[in-house]
Amino acid sequence: MYPEQSVTHVPGVYLDDSQQPIAGGVGRCPPSWRRAGPAATSGLSRARTRSTIESPSSGGGDAAVTTLIRALLVSIALLALAQAEATKAAGADASGRTAGPDTEQRMSWFEDAKLGIFIHWGIYAVKGVGESWSFHNGHISHADYMAQLDGFTAENYDPRRWAELIRGSGARYAVLTAKHHDGVALWDSEHTDLNVVDRTPAGRDLIAPYVAALRDEGLKVGLYYSLIDWSDPNYPNFLRAQKRYEDDPARWEAFTRSNHGQIGELSERYRPDLFWFDGDWEQSAGRWQAPRIREFLLEDNPEAIINSRLAGYGDYATPEQGVPVTRPRDRYWEVCMTMNDSWGYQPDDRNYKSADQIVQLFVECLSMGGNLLLDIGPMADGTVPPEQVTILEELGRWTAKHAEAVYGTRAGLPEGHFHGPTALSADRSTLYLYLACRPAGPLMLKGIVNPVRSVRVVGRDAELAWEIRMKLSWSEMPGVIFIGVPEEVLDADMTVLAVDLEGPVTLYRDGRIVEGD
Ligand code: GLC
Repeated sequence: MYPEQSVTHVPGVYLDDSQQPIAGGVGRCPPSWRRAGPAATSGLSRARTRSTIESPSSGGGDAAVTTLIRALLVSIALLALAQAEATKAAGADASGRTAGPDTEQRMSWFEDAKLGIFIHWGIYAVKGVGESWSFHNGHISHADYMAQLDGFTAENYDPRRWAELIRGSGARYAVLTAKHHDGVALWDSEHTDLNVVDRTPAGRDLIAPYVAALRDEGLKVGLYYSLIDWSDPNYPNFLRAQKRYEDDPARWEAFTRSNHGQIGELSERYRPDLFWFDGDWEQSAGRWQAPRIREFLLEDNPEAIINSRLAGYGDYATPEQGVPVTRPRDRYWEVCMTMNDSWGYQPDDRNYKSADQIVQLFVECLSMGGNLLLDIGPMADGTVPPEQVTILEELGRWTAKHAEAVYGTRAGLPEGHFHGPTALSADRSTLYLYLACRPAGPLMLKGIVNPVRSVRVVGRDAELAWEIRMKLSWSEMPGVIFIGVPEEVLDADMTVLAVDLEGPVTLYRDGRIVEGD
């Protein structure tokens, strides 16, 4: 169905403007190949590489000295590269911090999971005030905030129902706020009396049943932990305008002992798959002893993964609320996002996003190779508000139908090939096109070098007609693919097409054939 390609693309070889085949080597490769790999992205190797380019010519004068400097700088750059490779081979990440299985192996379930559910549950749900920030910012006194302890009943807490809802939404993991900045622990901690077992009518550990229910549903377990504790008398920060102390090593040490103790409890008792830290911005990595925390967590649970808010000692980036406009540089990332404008339960906040808006935002994440961590805020008795249940169910309809175009996908094509978000299957031979709008005519797909095998509607047993136009016999430029999309195959929220290619996608951009990615 497609015309014969006049040029065969040999991987690792590309054509320059003069149409001469060139081996893919330094300095002549197409722009997309110049992106730095893991070794070159560390600040150190980048700086050194840059200096090999800049310094020699700036000195002027003595050619022998210039040659010597050049040789020296090149050796330094090579050494940095070799060190980075050795670190990688030893199972460490780019910063050399990881013990145990390497980052890629630990992160693989997360990379495939795509959707997680964040659960902000705490005493702030009793009055429906902002989690922790409401007293920190002076909207309510600390005493009035803490009075909510008496109303935190958890009487309708049904973690199995939570797990079913989460599973039904299509999420593959969840993250529960074990302790927010207010310092109220949802488990029976030996390191703080401020916990729901000792201080609220709930009177029991709320984490263990959550962990068990998630595991029964085959979901990965995440625990959120705030490094900040604005209620701990040994923690320096309290209210926005009132600190407890500036410098008091003995009190800081006492705080650190309790802080590390609580993190250790979570790790040992519940063995979560994911630690979601928060609040790192108030102190430095050194003060938190972030490397030490990472070390003991991975000693306990060598497979665990850690978000970036451990003062830079995590495994993946966690942008908040804003879906990125362009593809982030981080290999692993997850946007955390509220359904309305609040993390915890706030009955007055009716500003919910619609399910189809959430689907669109989710697809943006898929197309840029990231995950979405969508938040719910259960009430003080443990009930998930009905509006949030509805959104989870509507999302679940879409993810179940389009599972193929969600789980295990990788970032899609760079701009210019298709008007809309795209993603690729892990083997890069199926291209997913997400149709944000109802097409007014045939869809256009440009710059795809591979022959097309078929075009399907994901989630339906339907193949679509397509044709190639503009294929010139004398040019390696691929033709333009036009796909007809009949009205009856459209999804209520977002239609997805699968373009099955012969082999991993190869693109034609900037006047030449380039490898995908
Ligand atoms: C911020 C807020 C916190 C919220 C978190 C979720 O760090 O401090 O209230 O839990 O974002 O990402």
